[in-house]
Amino acid sequence: METRAGDPGAFARFDLNRVDSPAFVVDAARLRHNLGVLADVRDRAGIKLLAALKAFSMWRVAPLIGRHLDGVCTSGLWEARLASEHYSGEIATYCAGYKAEDLPEICRLSDHVIFNSPGQIARFGDCLAAARVRGERFDVGLRINPQFATGEVPRYDPCAPHSRLGFPIDQLRAEHLDGVSGVHFHTLCEQDFTPLQQTWNALRPLLAPHFGRLQWLNFGGGHHITRADYQRDELVAFLQQVRADTGCDIYLEPGEAVALDAGILVGSVLDVQHNGMPVAITDISATCHMPDVIEAPYRPAMLGERTDGDDPVRLGGPSCLAGDVIGDYVLPGACEPGARFAFLDQAHYSMVKTTTFNGVPLPSIWLWDSETDTLERVRRFSYEDFRDRLS
Ligand SMILES: Cc1ncc(COP(=O)(O)O)c(C=O)c1O
Repeated sequence: METRAGDPGAFARFDLNRVDSPAFVVDAARLRHNLGVLADVRDRAGIKLLAALKAFSMWRVAPLIGRHLDGVCTSGLWEARLASEHYSGEIATYCAGYKAEDLPEICRLSDHVIFNSPGQIARFGDCLAAARVRGERFDVGLRINPQFATGEVPRYDPCAPHSRLGFPIDQLRAEHLDGVSGVHFHTLCEQDFTPLQQTWNALRPLLAPHFGRLQWLNFGGGHHITRADYQRDELVAFLQQVRADTGCDIYLEPGEAVALDAGILVGSVLDVQHNGMPVAITDISATCHMPDVIEAPYRPAMLGERTDGDDPVRLGGPSCLAGDVIGDYVLPGACEPGARFAFLDQAHYSMVKTTTFNGVPLPSIWLWDSETDTLERVRRFSYEDFRDRLS
């Protein structure tokens, strides 16, 4: 899979020795830039824009997100709790499968509770009615599956055959929307505007009979809006037109676009040896700190990577997994024990997906502001954080 981010931005002048290793460093100025771009699209299009916590939930910067966007979208009870404790604005919760014991609190915390199937809505009917009797105010939404695949990689395409995500649109009947205020679909991954438009063109005739009873439409995430070459003017015109056409409020809930190119992962070389090529062990593990490198798979861009013909070094983590390999790189300086390096665009997904497999320490989290050059360590993880997850 090709990743289309990797702009070093202000990190090009960040001294990697200012932080401990490994460490995520997030640039508040770049976040402000991204949030400004998203807020501008929101204002011009007259829509609502939520930040997807699943992609980036460094709640230290929640006030910044709240100043720009309309709220957050969450994936279940724990993210909804985090949202209600730290973030401001609306909370839209979608979960593929709710548990009966979680739903009352989710209804209390969320403005939109979005279900994956009409079957779940019907099964939880009493629970939803009881929440309303208690005075809780929330809309029920239904995630549909447009059955219109636009992704390159089936693993990241909720419209791939036999997908479990969303109710197949060809099964939707009017009675499935009883008590439903809005329809949600999420089908994109790091995509441009055209696939959204194509999806809507395919979906519109099938949804049109229901427009009169729907109050909102949520077009999910996967819109790479903050990438420099994204077609923002076309998106704005499209959203204005959908609003006029359907009479619905429109929501977008990007995650990656909020933190695109806003963070790096700093690491150090621990050892180098030769096995047909130079191989280095580093304190960054693909499997523990950047699992998408293996899962997607993709090759993360390195800050200041040289392309001058020198032999590349194969970089991998300290874990026991033979496949804990990040990739082959020519470091900006000599590849020797103690050398620092950093991977670009690691603030979204990498940070939320870290694990301590093999007892590998979690990276610290630092907040830098490239405009003021202030640098603060927000969190350092201890042995106790590792231990307390295990017994
Ligand atoms: C339902 C839903 N909304 C929003 C998002 C955020 O997507 P992205 O981070 O690609 O913008 C996702 C990502 O998987 C999602 O599943």
